[in-house]
Amino acid sequence: MTLEQIRDLVTTDFEAVDRVVKRRLHSQVALVDQVATYIIYAGGKRLRPLLVLLAARACGHQGEQHIEAAAIIEFIHTATLLHDDVVDGSSLRRGRETANEVFGNATSVLVGDFLYSRAFQMMVALDRMPIMQIIADATNAIAEGEVLQLMNAHDPNTTEARYIDVIQRKTARLFQAGAQIGAVLSDAPPIIEDSLARFGLHIGTAFQLIDDALDYEADEGRLGKHLGDDLAEGKPTLPLIYAMQHGNDTQREMIRHAIEHGGLHNLGEITRAVASLGGLAYTARLAQGEADQALAALAPLPETAFKEGLSELARFAVARKH
Ligand code: IPE
Ligand code: IPE
Ligand code: MG
Ligand code: MG
Repeated sequence: MTLEQIRDLVTTDFEAVDRVVKRRLHSQVALVDQVATYIIYAGGKRLRPLLVLLAARACGHQGEQHIEAAAIIEFIHTATLLHDDVVDGSSLRRGRETANEVFGNATSVLVGDFLYSRAFQMMVALDRMPIMQIIADATNAIAEGEVLQLMNAHDPNTTEARYIDVIQRKTARLFQAGAQIGAVLSDAPPIIEDSLARFGLHIGTAFQLIDDALDYEADEGRLGKHLGDDLAEGKPTLPLIYAMQHGNDTQREMIRHAIEHGGLHNLGEITRAVASLGGLAYTARLAQGEADQALAALAPLPETAFKEGLSELARFAVARKH
């Protein structure tokens, strides 16, 4: 299934989420309105709201709260992107110039705060304490993940375990929260809630592993982001960690140097080394392992088209080119 076909399983819900997102974006402060609109209307895959909707429907959800919940998760995601692009010094996102490039770092950070706090207003309106707990914890974990990543930056001795810890916090926890709240909203039994939480954590980990491989091998136009952003910031992601372990002294030294100093001087040569030493294949293999665990976690769910959609989402997380 393509992403469009997965979305078609919940078309009406998906369109309703889009309307909520656009309505709740508005602020009387013109610059807030302008920047929030700029990033949200740039599109994006809307994977996390899709996950909330499919999880809720897979649990037989009735009612409207899943729409609001999906919009909340997308707002939090978008807030992290505004902050992340400042921290990473990125200039391209969703196929256009990043907000920090157009409006400056200060504006991006502050509008990111607006989106975070808007998400919290919406969450309070939902008035379900367990959901507040899950989202508050996930948001806190994202912040920790981004700070841990900052601590690993420019450190070529970063281990695979430290890398995995970062990606679970900064990315997988939000996927986990999204899938889990789908279950909580539907008053699903604990076994189903636990299954969906594990599904989310694994699919989110796979998603970020692939993101880190795509930073070296994607088609920029299709990805909508610049390649080499991670290298430029001296980020020791898994493709580099693996390549350092398997390269000869010259290759290892070249990669160590790039991580320590950042910049894109050796991007071409490093990309070739990472690919030929198996760093991209290894990263993809780990992502596939995570997707397999995500699929296995779905076992207790009843057989429905929505469960199939969740499975397809796990496959997309690994096969994706954008
Ligand atoms: C980008 O996420 C940030 C990561 C966790 C890698 P997406 O690739 O889902 O971003 P959009 O929303 O589709 O632009
Ligand atoms: C994204 O990590 C994590 C968050 C946004 C919290 P990346 O830095 O790899 O994401 P991209 O590549 O900029 O989208
Ligand atoms: Mg980034
Ligand atoms: Mg990335």
